Amino acid sequence: MKVGLGSDHAGYDLKEFLKKQLKKEGFEVVDYGTHIKKSVDYPDYAEKVAAGIQKKEVAAGILMCGTGIGVSIAANKFSGVRAARCCTLQDAVLAREHNDANVLTLGGRLVGSELALEIAKTFLETPFLKGRHLRRVNKIKKTDK
Ligand code: RB5
Repeated sequence: MKVGLGSDHAGYDLKEFLKKQLKKEGFEVVDYGTHIKKSVDYPDYAEKVAAGIQKKEVAAGILMCGTGIGVSIAANKFSGVRAARCCTLQDAVLAREHNDANVLTLGGRLVGSELALEIAKTFLETPFLKGRHLRRVNKIKKTDK
């Protein structure tokens, strides 16, 4: 599976960690930046990952800022993106099973790197349950248009 990563300066260290670990786990990773730790604006990186999802360059995205909140708000402005900020493994399971989220957002200043890796793997490996959830996600997709 091809995964797009993006972060601002506050999520940079976590992005670099996840990039290395997810590659080891066999994921193909596209790094949309930031590529240096200098202060940048998180909406720019949310836009890059959202564009990757829209163009189907990547099947899923992971965005990181200090809290995971800013990138989540920004990414959800883009059509076709369903971004979910996850702080626990259960968040990740339910964001996939019920919401078919395609972008995970994480707080680089709030979540430890090992927990973040487990959340990321859980998010990437959990399938959408469809069924009654599909009807609801389709309503979200309709408002997207
Ligand atoms: C940057 O200082 C910080 O505001 C940003 O990373 C993020 O947490 C915003 O939501």
